Amino acid sequence: MKRRPVPLLLLLLPCVVLADEHDHKYKDGAEVVLWMNTVGPYHNRQETYKYFVLPFCKGSKKTISHYHETLGEALQGTELEFSGLDIKFKEDVYQIKYCEIDVDKDVYNTFMYAVKNHYWYQMYIDDLPIWGIVGEVDENMESFYLWTHKKLDIGYNGDKIMDVNLTSEVKVKLVPNIKIPLTYSVKWKKVGVTFDHRFDKYLDPSFFQHRIHWFSIFNSFMMVIFLVGLVSMILMRTLRKDFARYSKEEEMDDMERDLGDEYGWKQVHGDVFRPASNPVMFSALIGSGYQVLFVSFVVIIIAIFGDLYTERGSLLSTAIFVYAATSPINGYFGGSLYARQGGRLWIKQMFVGAFLVPSLVCGVAFFINFIAIYYQASRAIPFGTMVAVACICFFVILPLNLVGTILGRNLAGQPNFPCRVNAVPRPIPEKKWFMEPAVIVCLGGILPFGSIFIEMYFIFTSFWAYKIYYVYGFMLLVLVILCIVTVCVTIVCTYFLLNAEDYRWQWTSFLSAASTSAYVYMYSIYYFFFKTKMYGLFQTTFYFGYMALFSMALGVMCGAVGYVGTSAFVRKIYTNVKID
Ligand SMILES: *[C@@H]1O[C@H](CO)[C@@H](O)[C@H](O)[C@H]1NC(C)=O
Repeated sequence: MKRRPVPLLLLLLPCVVLADEHDHKYKDGAEVVLWMNTVGPYHNRQETYKYFVLPFCKGSKKTISHYHETLGEALQGTELEFSGLDIKFKEDVYQIKYCEIDVDKDVYNTFMYAVKNHYWYQMYIDDLPIWGIVGEVDENMESFYLWTHKKLDIGYNGDKIMDVNLTSEVKVKLVPNIKIPLTYSVKWKKVGVTFDHRFDKYLDPSFFQHRIHWFSIFNSFMMVIFLVGLVSMILMRTLRKDFARYSKEEEMDDMERDLGDEYGWKQVHGDVFRPASNPVMFSALIGSGYQVLFVSFVVIIIAIFGDLYTERGSLLSTAIFVYAATSPINGYFGGSLYARQGGRLWIKQMFVGAFLVPSLVCGVAFFINFIAIYYQASRAIPFGTMVAVACICFFVILPLNLVGTILGRNLAGQPNFPCRVNAVPRPIPEKKWFMEPAVIVCLGGILPFGSIFIEMYFIFTSFWAYKIYYVYGFMLLVLVILCIVTVCVTIVCTYFLLNAEDYRWQWTSFLSAASTSAYVYMYSIYYFFFKTKMYGLFQTTFYFGYMALFSMALGVMCGAVGYVGTSAFVRKIYTNVKID
């Protein structure tokens, strides 16, 4: 995994202090570091600031004050700072004052604001997250109180820390011009939890493994069986009938055939393999879609086996790493598709394909970063991290894409369509409004969306509220279901389109599958207004920006899946029909 060099040095430097935290083993009396991470309003999970933007005071103990370990952490706004609290393994501390806040007018206002907005803070001990509340306000919104005593109950088993509980005690009323002492106490207790299970208490099985979740999976599964059955039945029967009709027509003489009512998908055989309009963009989208699909599968499988939630930022780091490493897939499929479509600007295609997804992500992140910097939120991405991401794009993703593109063009770049493409495009006949590509595109996403929206609820809730998503097995199943449903639906859509003698199936199949993402985005708007209590410019932009990104990635993925399934279908039916 990518580590930035400076923090690595920092990590080596205070080995004496930190050696414990990395193998999680402590000797009796060894130092245990309480890291302060972030504060922020409870309802805006992503609006976080460094803990010390609130005028809290630090303990007297000094040690290194900052470290970012991984790229993922830096991107997710982890801002660890030492609390200055003196905690030693297995040594109880009885209510000690560690510092004093001098409440002047500014400090008073800041704390009042934080208490009013239900600010929470987060800390870490030995990688275990701890949440606490800053203060409390009484019912008539007049008096504001600050919690001043942190009571830490730490559970250990052998030489490892297994469990930390924080209780906030001692409310002090906030008034200007007083001094508020902050105190802490530590109590060590032997617990029976084992190290592998120490994160279990953060998981919420009653939420994630609720009957509804199982039921929805079962439901989607039934839908898949039904849909696959339906699609194969319809296609078998109609296609058989079509073939029968076409072969009967073959036996008629030319005269009869000219008078006969030949219609249907066979009519467009001379156009169906005509290159899609805007082939550069099209093949870039398909290539990126392949890659996103592959990355999703790999990351989910790693997450199933890796318990990634126990390490800060590791899911994001893994995703970036897998994305960079799978770039050849993008190049291969995008490049070979472009070559088969007879495109000549392959370098342009490669650049577009390589940077399509990264530039979307960076564009949105950059925009949100501006707002984050304005708010001085800890989500603001540090400059070094931006450079690291740019380096990955140019020195890893691009070359690997180039390798993939060259392989793709040489191994799979020959057009081998079952029908020749006519020189002159056939005019597209008038048809009913519901056979128009635009309508098909809009309707195509409904069923795939229906098969995933319950899962979307769980994913959204774990991202935007305080829940840790851990049921990646469900996610994998839903992804498989989504792919199958998408393929079935787009095949049916394409069959109708071609039957209406409209040969523009390539973009239509891509877009009708990709329209799933439009429904997901609409659902996310609903979710924002009815399921969360987020507010403020920062959180709102963050939410809608990242939801747009998520939906777009999902759309590109579904689109590619739909297109690939459909193109196999189209190739199959036109291979079987005899064309004179
Ligand atoms: C923390 O709280 C939980 C639930 O109240 C309890 O089961 C556990 O024993 C506590 N741990 C410690 C170390 O006190």
